[in-house]
Amino acid sequence: MVIIAPSLLAADFGRLREEIACIEAAGATWLHLDIMDGHFVPNLTFGPGVVSALRPYTKLTFDVHLMVEQPENFIQAFAEAGAEWISVHVETCPHLHRVIHQVREAGCRPAVALNPATGLQGLEWVLEEVDMVLVMTVNPGFGGQRFIPSMLRKIEELARLIKAQGKEVLIEVDGGISADNAAAVCRAGAQVLVAGTAIFGQQDRVAAFKALHYAASR
Ligand code: DX5
Ligand code: ZN
Repeated sequence: MVIIAPSLLAADFGRLREEIACIEAAGATWLHLDIMDGHFVPNLTFGPGVVSALRPYTKLTFDVHLMVEQPENFIQAFAEAGAEWISVHVETCPHLHRVIHQVREAGCRPAVALNPATGLQGLEWVLEEVDMVLVMTVNPGFGGQRFIPSMLRKIEELARLIKAQGKEVLIEVDGGISADNAAAVCRAGAQVLVAGTAIFGQQDRVAAFKALHYAASR
């Protein structure tokens, strides 16, 4: 079963509640929330205040993707804002093991995110501590970029690593996902597909969500 996680980054920021209601009605179960700090990535988005303001209006699972330096300073705030999942980038965490535990202690499910240039080696000693690995398929910071095809091999290798380890860990992919590459990323081993432009960038969000879901399930 593939999960499509629409990314709010591509939504109309003046109509967030309507945008969320629309994809929920289309059948979405997750919402991907991109948090950017202007330091780790060259862009700014929104913080825990916006996440907690949206929380009462939807049952969607909130998948918070922290693209911030020192994510340990923000975990509690996003947990209290209603995040179910919190992803931290390995590139931002010299004490990754501790940060993963901090996410779990805050009551959320921990995930680690990898930039395209980051290898899988750093995962060896934390894989059994996390519930998901987020493979960035573009360089983080902006929506609407092109999927990096070599990431398919990284997803395949990660799927092998997870299988060998025996624990259930989801693979999420993020960046440039569309109906054209959804089947390929799923075949490589991804179970959660983040999509911004391919959903909120389309005139008909419901049709776009359904088309992506259909493409991914083939
Ligand atoms: C990029 C973000 C993504 C972004 C994806 O840094 O992490 O979640 O919203 O956007 P698309 O689907 O347009 O590539
Ligand atoms: Zn993201």
